Amino acid sequence: MFGAVRRLATAAASAQVSRLQDVVIVGGGPAGLSLLAALKSSHKTRHLKCTLVEGGSLDNIRTFGEDPPENYTNRVVSLTPQSVEFMQERIGSWQYINQDRIKFYSSIVAYDSQEKDARIQFDASMTDGNGVLAVMCENINIQSLLLSRIDEIGDSTILDNTKVLDIVHPNKPEINHDLTAEPQTTSPGLDWPIVQLSNGESIQTRLLVGADGYNSPVRKFSGIESRGWQYGRFGVVATIKLQYEDYRSIGWQRFLTTGPLAILPLTEDNATIVWSSTPELSDILLKVTPEIFVHLVNAAMTLDEVDLNYIYGVLKKDPTDTSVLEEIEWRMSKIKLSELEEKYPLPVSEVIDKSRARFPLKMSHADTYVAPRVALIGDAAHTIHPLAGQGLNMGQSDVAGLVEALEKGVERGMDIGSTLVLESYVSNTWPANSMLLGVCDKLHKIFSTDFYPLVLLRGIGMKSLNMLDVVKDLMVKSMAR
Ligand SMILES: Cc1cc2nc3c(=O)[nH]c(=O)nc-3n(C[C@H](O)[C@H](O)[C@H](O)COP(=O)(O)OP(=O)(O)OC[C@H]3O[C@@H](n4cnc5c(N)ncnc54)[C@H](O)[C@@H]3O)c2cc1C
Ligand SMILES: *[C@@H]1O[C@H](CO)[C@@H](O)[C@H](O)[C@H]1NC(C)=O
Ligand SMILES: *[C@@H]1O[C@H](CO)[C@@H](O)[C@H](O)[C@H]1NC(C)=O
Repeated sequence: MFGAVRRLATAAASAQVSRLQDVVIVGGGPAGLSLLAALKSSHKTRHLKCTLVEGGSLDNIRTFGEDPPENYTNRVVSLTPQSVEFMQERIGSWQYINQDRIKFYSSIVAYDSQEKDARIQFDASMTDGNGVLAVMCENINIQSLLLSRIDEIGDSTILDNTKVLDIVHPNKPEINHDLTAEPQTTSPGLDWPIVQLSNGESIQTRLLVGADGYNSPVRKFSGIESRGWQYGRFGVVATIKLQYEDYRSIGWQRFLTTGPLAILPLTEDNATIVWSSTPELSDILLKVTPEIFVHLVNAAMTLDEVDLNYIYGVLKKDPTDTSVLEEIEWRMSKIKLSELEEKYPLPVSEVIDKSRARFPLKMSHADTYVAPRVALIGDAAHTIHPLAGQGLNMGQSDVAGLVEALEKGVERGMDIGSTLVLESYVSNTWPANSMLLGVCDKLHKIFSTDFYPLVLLRGIGMKSLNMLDVVKDLMVKSMAR
């Protein structure tokens, strides 16, 4: 092994490579950190020389364990029991989670804005999660536990504040888009890609992993096509306070024609929202005063869409028009108290300062996740509508699948960068991801329309329960992985 590396180092010297690695991971998001932690935790792959490169700073992730921010950050995800189990059993990192900042919840109530009786409650019994449907957890908490585990093991290099500037194929002077050809074993040089970094270093790697998010430079380098579309919607996120702690541990999601609005529980009276909305509405949501924002969330969870549209119209003209406060309170006062308590989430009382942000929503799926010496994981491979809270979870199952493929390759003494080894990763993860992407896309399309015939059909369908069954089935499929 050592002999081989030394020999290869000599061969690559002409390309001015400062280092050779077995695996270079681009991206220090949840997917990239998971992969590094998983590779270093498996006794079959822990000998591999690994470097992770992250363009941004990981400082706030490093300090999170010792000194977390006072309030919840606004990037919060819902982790499935499968993802938690993976981090527990395979990565051995769950022990580093900040326990005070996670919230187990047992069910979700989803309801339609157009049809009062269209409600689905689904819970852990439908997904065999041992009484737990999912865990709400900040992204940074997940990244922090992964980094702690990586530090504990030692023996790998993390370069943050370091951008990948270019990726070149050693046999060609420029970026090579034709990686579909099998590497030539007879080639005198090494066919491993060379990653050029902003710190001046160049690393040549046996396997290059793109965990570099939606715009994935690694995907572009490898010439893998990605297909999909922008939804023309933004996901507005915010950290909020409820009027008091909701002991029901329920997540709520209301399907509005502008997109679904979800209120998900955090510890005590803290909670988080994801509000998929049109560009125009998301603009309003970011501009209005905190007081108006809070009223808007409460209104959007309960009032008719005609009323909401009227209120949006007022705020579009003037986002500081406080007349909407009375308007909303008056309209909400017409709903029976018992109904409010039973069928709707607790009212929101406060939005945490500076926690509002928005993200463009899109769906995309790479045609494949591998090319010779390249693999894609996480959002680099797929992006999904957040309505089922699955994006990060899909990244976790990618990591599980890739590590399994690499373990098999190592066991059989094969080159872990070869497509022969990598193919089983694709065949084990691509179909399930494709199904899930399709399901969430369908759910988005069924609900996010005010195209009248479809709304009408939805109403009738929901009443006759056929549609409700279809939707329920889709929802269960999207949550039960
Ligand atoms: C509104 C919203 C709500 C969501 N809710 C949920 C949820 O409830 N549950 C869930 O599971 N998922 C959810 N998601 C999805 C989830 O956030 C993403 O799927 C997840 O963060 C993707 O992780 P990743 O590591 O693949 O990519 P990213 O987090 O995008 O990380 C990619 C990293 O690569 C780095 N990088 C990129 N280019 C370079 C370069 N050239 N050089 C060096 N570094 C580079 C970037 O700096 C970045 O840190 C949500 C998403 C949105 C938008
Ligand atoms: C959640 O809310 C409670 C009470 O309002 C507070 O004491 C606690 O620290 C909060 N947690 C976080 C992380 O903000
Ligand atoms: C945390 O939230 C509380 C309650 O909204 C607020 O008073 C406080 O200023 C926040 N702290 C920070 C550091 O933003």
